[in-house]
Amino acid sequence: MIAPTPSALDATGLLRLVYASTCVCGIAERDVRDILARSKENNFVLGITGMLCWSGEFFLQCLEGPRRPVTRLFSKIASDPRHADVELIIAAPTQVRWFDRWAMGFTRDMMSHGGDVRATNAAFNPYALQASDLLELFERLSQSAQPM
Ligand SMILES: Cc1cc2nc3c(=O)[nH]c(=O)nc-3n(C[C@H](O)[C@H](O)[C@H](O)COP(=O)(O)O)c2cc1C
Repeated sequence: MIAPTPSALDATGLLRLVYASTCVCGIAERDVRDILARSKENNFVLGITGMLCWSGEFFLQCLEGPRRPVTRLFSKIASDPRHADVELIIAAPTQVRWFDRWAMGFTRDMMSHGGDVRATNAAFNPYALQASDLLELFERLSQSAQPM
């Protein structure tokens, strides 16, 4: 997926945002597939790229794009009833997109890309990780994950 050409919206610069959240009880693969399909459509139009990680219990998502669309999307996502305890961990300006091939990438397999992020997928707990570890995880994911 190639991100749309930067527009006037990019004048305020790109923002990289990372948050963690907890899936509500009973969320199934089908729900996550629905989220992904909607995300790919919406994000492409908004010029947003990123990666969604799902451990079964937690979500961890990186959004990158023009500042205003990213913050608006994050507000919408944060009020989505399919997850709770949404914790904003990183919101930082960036010059580069890590996920320019994905309107929204997806992985369930964080740890094979995780490097120093010491945990097994079963014990993956994004709330317990340092912001620097999460950035490292996403940078590695951007290099090794395959577009879906
Ligand atoms: C963990 C999680 C991640 C999501 N990520 C995105 C996303 O990247 N883009 C998006 O448009 N919606 C995302 N959503 C869905 C939004 O909360 C919302 O349901 C959707 O944007 C509504 O789209 P619509 O206004 O086109 O119906 C996510 C939801 C969850 C629970």
